[in-house]
Amino acid sequence: MSETKIALVTGANKGIGYEIAAGLGALGYRVGIGARDDKRRDDAVARLRDTGVDAFGVPLDVTDDHSAAAAAELIADRAGRLDALVNNAAITGGHPQQPSLVDPAVIRTVVETNVIGVIRVTNAMLPLLRRSPSPRIVNMSSSVGSLARQSGPGSGTTTGPVAVAYAPSKTFLNAVTLQYVRELADTNILVNCACPGYVATDLNGFRGIRTPQEGAATAIRLASLPDGGPTGGFFEDAGVVPW
Ligand SMILES: NC(=O)c1ccc[n+]([C@@H]2O[C@H](COP(=O)([O-])OP(=O)(O)OC[C@H]3O[C@@H](n4cnc5c(N)ncnc54)[C@H](OP(=O)(O)O)[C@@H]3O)[C@@H](O)[C@H]2O)c1
Repeated sequence: MSETKIALVTGANKGIGYEIAAGLGALGYRVGIGARDDKRRDDAVARLRDTGVDAFGVPLDVTDDHSAAAAAELIADRAGRLDALVNNAAITGGHPQQPSLVDPAVIRTVVETNVIGVIRVTNAMLPLLRRSPSPRIVNMSSSVGSLARQSGPGSGTTTGPVAVAYAPSKTFLNAVTLQYVRELADTNILVNCACPGYVATDLNGFRGIRTPQEGAATAIRLASLPDGGPTGGFFEDAGVVPW
């Protein structure tokens, strides 16, 4: 088995996902750049390769079963296994997201990408992850999905607008993550959620206050955890995020 570790980052053509790919590449991982648009994916792969990252493109729309299956086939052909899966791709669904105004179709679209997309890609990749000696799954969540921070004394610590599609999609993702943790409890697969903080990216019109590199740090750490590291946790740079 090759010594080089293999990672797949979804939504890696820009923003935090791109920086997760860059960071894992700097740690010596061979990184699959999961992205749905051919040109954006090729550009990102070229930029990463220019900085010395062993990057390869993985066509992947997380809302499409066939795309996820084809991505798994491509990684199987290229690498034969997967050591780290970072489910990073997500959408906000746009506006309005006040509960009283939202179009239910927006909620369905956001859940399809942010929750079912993670399940779809994870299930496609699990056979490859099971071939790794130390598999890791990282789900990019958000503190806006923390019910503890959305309510009670800590509620002032959340950022961003009222978002009845986006924020609960991350709560849903957190709950889904814990179900994977339960199912995979007797395996060596470590499964965790990451919050990047409030990061300046397209997702929020670049209003965030952190850089994408800063936002990538926790996911990179969780994707490269040593054996015996935590599983079933929700982490940000400062430590544990309450569910
Ligand atoms: N920015 C923040 O402050 C913040 C805070 C908390 C959590 N997060 C989370 O961090 C992660 C990255 O967000 P970001 O801020 O870097 O956002 P971003 O710059 O908007 O990037 C999102 C990425 O997801 C991809 N994507 C969306 N739908 C997809 C689909 N159906 N299939 C494949 N890829 C798809 C986008 O691809 P295209 O270029 O093709 O659209 C893009 O590469 C997300 O999970 C987000 O919820 C961000």
